Amino acid sequence: MKITMIGTGYVGLVTGTCFAEFGHHVTCIDKIEDKISRLKEGKIPIYEPGLDTLVAKNVGEGRLKFTTSLDDAIPEAEAVFIAVGTPSSRRGDGYADLTYIYAAAKEIAHYLQDYTIIVDKSTVPVGTARQVARIISEENPKADFDVASNPEFLREGAAISDFMRPDRVVIGVESERSEQVLREVYKPLFLRDTPIVSTSIETAELTKYAANAFLAVKISFINEIAAVCEAIGADVSALAKGIGMDGRIGNKFLHPGPGYGGSCFPKDTLALMRIVQEHGESVRIVEAAVEVNAAQKARMVKKIRDMLGGSEVGKTVAVLGLTFKPETDDMREAPAATILPALLEKGARIKAHDPKGMEEAKKYLPDGIEYVENGYQACDGADAVILMTEWNQYRALDLEKIKKIMKEPVFIDLRNVYDPATMKKLGFRYTGVGRK
Ligand code: UGA
Repeated sequence: MKITMIGTGYVGLVTGTCFAEFGHHVTCIDKIEDKISRLKEGKIPIYEPGLDTLVAKNVGEGRLKFTTSLDDAIPEAEAVFIAVGTPSSRRGDGYADLTYIYAAAKEIAHYLQDYTIIVDKSTVPVGTARQVARIISEENPKADFDVASNPEFLREGAAISDFMRPDRVVIGVESERSEQVLREVYKPLFLRDTPIVSTSIETAELTKYAANAFLAVKISFINEIAAVCEAIGADVSALAKGIGMDGRIGNKFLHPGPGYGGSCFPKDTLALMRIVQEHGESVRIVEAAVEVNAAQKARMVKKIRDMLGGSEVGKTVAVLGLTFKPETDDMREAPAATILPALLEKGARIKAHDPKGMEEAKKYLPDGIEYVENGYQACDGADAVILMTEWNQYRALDLEKIKKIMKEPVFIDLRNVYDPATMKKLGFRYTGVGRK
């Protein structure tokens, strides 16, 4: 099949490349010339494990192309996917900014020839696909097309395996013809028994928000329970096992931490609240999850201050990990971007390390942080170390060495990587989240 992908951001690039890996012929379009010329040279603008190899392979085998022009790519495509950004609007009101989606729709309209389906892949409010259809019909009344919604459920850092082995594929369609095209696009997964949930366009659009909101609620729930565990001396990790083995609850997304971050949960929970408000309803449970998440970051600042003996003034703090999660260089809404400025402001000196995210971090964090080459350099002479992001290289630290080089053996494990009893035996003053 011939597929065109508009937008070579995170979703567009991963999806386009994986479609090419399925055997389709994919053209990825982006307006940013520099990005396209770098992609043509095999330079990948984001860090996602395995993506560079997969791009090179599919470009080499002639199934994946990059261009800035719609001229050839749209007329020949059977399906055009829109995967441009939908940031939170600059008004700061939680609405998703759809400017790029609508601009893409307008442009696509002029190049459509034979029957084509236009698929929203970006996370968009309910009703966007219909608006896209309206724009295309206005721009090109003769266009023969259908719109569809096909939300993505990829996690950064695991996007390729999530794409190749998804729990399900959701397609929102309004004609049998468009459903057939989308089933053809996903045929390789269908042959591997991946369930395909075929539904109305609005249901598919809302499914994406509901999925992310549910996961955000699950994380905020366990973060609140972690606070309760701390108050009464219980162990949240054992508790999470105890509830997670119930198949109705499930053991995933029950890891307490410094609060969820990233480009999705914070943005999508707010967008869902706005969508629901517009329909005169409310999602109080999601509102609470958002509040709990903000409070969780503040709790972490207090936890760190307590471990520093009540004041940050004149203390050197080592920070291991800055990105919102491991295996990505993404700093968007990273807890570190809230927690570290608060520590700096109160007089702490910060030495930080991250395996992939330090360049990005510099854009999100205030000046005055010292970036070092590895975790040990960060710990050298520090009054406390904070394990902020659970990169694999921080899971097997030489703890004896760390204890020796630190000024004070204070270990603040915001991801519960280490065992409290072992850490205490080693002589650390240790705290995790939800367990002592
Ligand atoms: C999330 C969803 O998991 C994907 O299914 C979805 O496609 C994606 O958003 C999106 O909408 O594009 P992502 O943001 O890449 O994916 O990362 P997650 O692995 O979901 O983690 C999000 C945040 O939650 C991270 O800050 C992580 O540290 C935190 N988290 C996750 C916890 O604090 N505890 C957990 O148990 C799980």
